[in-house]
Amino acid sequence: MKYDMNTFDPGKILVSPSLLAADFSKLGEQVAEAEAAGCQLLHLDIMDGHFVPNLTFGPALVKALRKDSGMLFDVHFMLTDPIKYVKPFADAGADLITFHIEANGNPADTIAEIRKHDCRVGLTLKPGTPAEAVFPWLDQVDMILVMTVEPGFGGQSFMENQIPKVAAIFAEIKKRDLPVFIEVDGGIDAKTAPGIVSAGADVLVAGTGVFRAPAGMKAATQQLLSLSDLLPAR
Ligand code: DX5
Ligand code: ZN
Repeated sequence: MKYDMNTFDPGKILVSPSLLAADFSKLGEQVAEAEAAGCQLLHLDIMDGHFVPNLTFGPALVKALRKDSGMLFDVHFMLTDPIKYVKPFADAGADLITFHIEANGNPADTIAEIRKHDCRVGLTLKPGTPAEAVFPWLDQVDMILVMTVEPGFGGQSFMENQIPKVAAIFAEIKKRDLPVFIEVDGGIDAKTAPGIVSAGADVLVAGTGVFRAPAGMKAATQQLLSLSDLLPAR
């Protein structure tokens, strides 16, 4: 099955496991297991060693994984110059490209470049950036990603002080009746998810929480998916 944003049920949680936490010695198997566990998206963290102090992987890996996966490829750019990398990642099979409001370039230009390559658009903000920074762009994007850790590394602790930011973005989206998903990323697991889902987050990135779950990926994913009842009405 090939997932697309149009195939998602409104009012239901989606889980997007971050590949950073997978066992890199058997990536293909790990991705197939995540899909079988009920994950409809795959979160791919792209770091340039400049916007954040870490490096990950490039379009060649995304292209290799694309062949055997129907998941929606949810590509999170942590890049100083996002606009330069839209084409290579779109060509490699990205479905959704999310870039940072703090990065270089006018967001309108980066949004146009992503749309030109037929991808969905996400906009993200670091923990220190206020909710209002993304308000002018809400009617031009498909998703807002609220970082619940400082971007750069997997396995960090969830920042509870980001819950009011999710609530503020949710309230604005609801007030304007916009079809925008709210994704959260960093330290999300069965313990931290309920509070942020109750504030309006409907797409949960979980690296450690899914790929390294002691009870296994399926149990961890199903537990996160079961939180849909906590989502506030849109
Ligand atoms: C951090 C990345 C995250 C990270 C999440 O910069 O954007 O996607 O992999 O990992 P966990 O879920 O382990 O905090
Ligand atoms: Zn991420």
